[in-house]
Amino acid sequence: MSDIYVIGSMNMDMTVVASRFPELGETVNGQSFSTAYGGKGANQAVAAARLGANVKMCACTGKDVYGEELKKALENDGVNTDFVYESGSSTGVAVITLVDGDNTIIVAKGANADVSIKQAELFLKNAKPGDILLAQLETDFETVEYALKTAKINKMITVLNPAPADALSSSLCEYCDYIIPNETELKTITSNADIDFSLKLIKEKYGCVPIVTLGSEGCAYYSENGVNHLPCSKVKAVDTTGAGDTFCGAFCAALSKGSQIEDCLKFALKCATLSVTRKGAQPSLPYLSEIE
Ligand code: RIB
Repeated sequence: MSDIYVIGSMNMDMTVVASRFPELGETVNGQSFSTAYGGKGANQAVAAARLGANVKMCACTGKDVYGEELKKALENDGVNTDFVYESGSSTGVAVITLVDGDNTIIVAKGANADVSIKQAELFLKNAKPGDILLAQLETDFETVEYALKTAKINKMITVLNPAPADALSSSLCEYCDYIIPNETELKTITSNADIDFSLKLIKEKYGCVPIVTLGSEGCAYYSENGVNHLPCSKVKAVDTTGAGDTFCGAFCAALSKGSQIEDCLKFALKCATLSVTRKGAQPSLPYLSEIE
């Protein structure tokens, strides 16, 4: 089994449930408030660890209570935190509005922006060819770029979840073996709303395998035979926060055990489907025993 190296964010999620999203300039009364451990990087690390993978995390928190709690949560789930540093900034937070299971999220990066190239270099020093690097875009862009480039040179398997995506994200595709955007992120990367066209474009232009997550419609990916769509089971979603992270973590967990791409994707879909039936980012991440 190969090891999974996650470089990414750790956030304290603050969620308000409301009956509808407010209009610009409007205030609406919410129904409830809760906090949960989150951050795309930490969620993906915990997802993979709960599914039986060997996971190490490189991240930054602030020297504050949120940072301490988030690090402890990773350790409780068996994630190696030797490369989780404390910086002078405050721990990242995510402000989430949840309406009928769907969400909008604003992240204040805080310490996540302090994950440095030096830290990434130390983190990847002992990685072996065949180990997996899993990254997202809630940390410093240059650091993610450095990590992907270094991992690729060292023959690791590189996986990028380009979230949140912007115009620069496409420049990272050349260092990726797999890229896993959602529909919106895919559109941002290719400037094209046609999913099949965008997947083909990424494969042909950059050579990496593009996988798009499609919510309740499952996912699609590009292989030698063209675009393949994989459906998922229909469930009543109570909270989609972290569903994409569950998918990415589960995909890498299956990859680390040597599974073929289609099996990895089917496994990731099952895990993500289960996660949306529960509330919160890390609290909703499934354990291997539940999936089996
Ligand atoms: O993908 C979900 C995550 O995005 C949340 O946990 C939040 O912290 C934001 O990073």
